[in-house]
Amino acid sequence: MKEFLIAGNWKMYKTKAEARAFAEELKAMNLPNASSVAIMAPFTQLDTLVEAFKGTGIKVGAQNVHYEKEGAYTGEISVDMLKEIGVDYCVVGHSERRQYFGETDETVNRKLKVLIDAGITPILCVGETLEQRNQGMPQIVIGNQLTHDLAGLTEDEVRHLVIAYEPIWAIGTGVTATPEQAADMCGFISGMIEGLFGEVCMSRVKILYGGSMKPENAEELLSQPSINGGLIGGASLKVDKFAEIAIEADRLSKL
Ligand code: PGA
Repeated sequence: MKEFLIAGNWKMYKTKAEARAFAEELKAMNLPNASSVAIMAPFTQLDTLVEAFKGTGIKVGAQNVHYEKEGAYTGEISVDMLKEIGVDYCVVGHSERRQYFGETDETVNRKLKVLIDAGITPILCVGETLEQRNQGMPQIVIGNQLTHDLAGLTEDEVRHLVIAYEPIWAIGTGVTATPEQAADMCGFISGMIEGLFGEVCMSRVKILYGGSMKPENAEELLSQPSINGGLIGGASLKVDKFAEIAIEADRLSKL
């Protein structure tokens, strides 16, 4: 039976009141696979969601963290602060952070380490630009990112990771990778984890696809053997759409 993770990434959307309303609606739907569902929310909405989802199995995650334990880093949030709220996941290396906020493979690497140490599951994002894909080298780009992002991590640490393949050209554009393109790259990532850290580790690491996933394309993407779930931006803002994807994952997991 395939175990999916259906993770919403709210980005910089939703106030506390909107988050609370979403959570109440989602809870009322009694998702059959609630424990495979998670929401990555803005920092200020995390405690609201953790409280609202208590006892439901639905998980909550942050979208970023600082790599130092504490210190003079104005505007940053530490892993202990996230831990105290009780989040289960944290997105690391999203392409929007790499593009707009100077996230590098080195900072990603340090963030992965502090999160794993704290027992928070990182959702590591990797992906290529359209230009890189057109030059015929998505595997080289992703291979490079993974090699640097995972540098110095042990097999025991890497098995706690979730990795999201998010082609940059598909994020928020409405253009989705074809199921074959998505499956190919997720398979490539899985092969790389196996090569670097062994088969047992590879079998534990969930690989998600992200980039304009929505109810209309969820089935064809999620039914690919190498894809274990989705990181969903736009379609996670509407509770009905998000739930539809989660319910599709539940159906597929029982086939
Ligand atoms: P999208 O975003 O679903 O809106 O394309 C995905 C993401 O950035 O994680």
